[in-house]
Amino acid sequence: MRYRIPTTLAIVAGLGFAAAHATPVAFTLPGETAAFRPGANLDVVQNNCTACHSADYIKTQPRGEKFKKDFWAAEVTKMIKVYGAPIEEADVGKIVDYLSANY
Ligand code: HEC
Repeated sequence: MRYRIPTTLAIVAGLGFAAAHATPVAFTLPGETAAFRPGANLDVVQNNCTACHSADYIKTQPRGEKFKKDFWAAEVTKMIKVYGAPIEEADVGKIVDYLSANY
């Protein structure tokens, strides 16, 4: 003889299983590890460069004379053209000035 679990009993057991696993999990997110350096036009950078990633992306770029205005202008253009960052044309120069002066 085959033993069959009644459908209603199976559903109730299933709900019980789901409920036992629905306990909320509490966790604390780590704090921001990177902040932008203080400088002129910091507000413009904060308004335009924090929506998608942290300041770490800027902090970890190469340093030196070869990585100044042209480098940062190319980065900002890439954010707009490749990644679709909604940055006003008028803010691009301010952002590039800030980045070249502080990084
Ligand atoms: C619309 C979303 C968005 C905005 C806004 C944005 N970025 Fe990015 N950024 C990205 C993505 C996507 C990547 C690539 C992530 C990856 O490769 O892991 C990236 C990567 C970077 C990198 C790493 C180097 C590289 O080229 O991949 C730098 C530096 C950077 N962004 C700077 C900026 C600056 C400066 C601004 C403000 C002008 C900015 N981002 C705004 C999406 C954005």
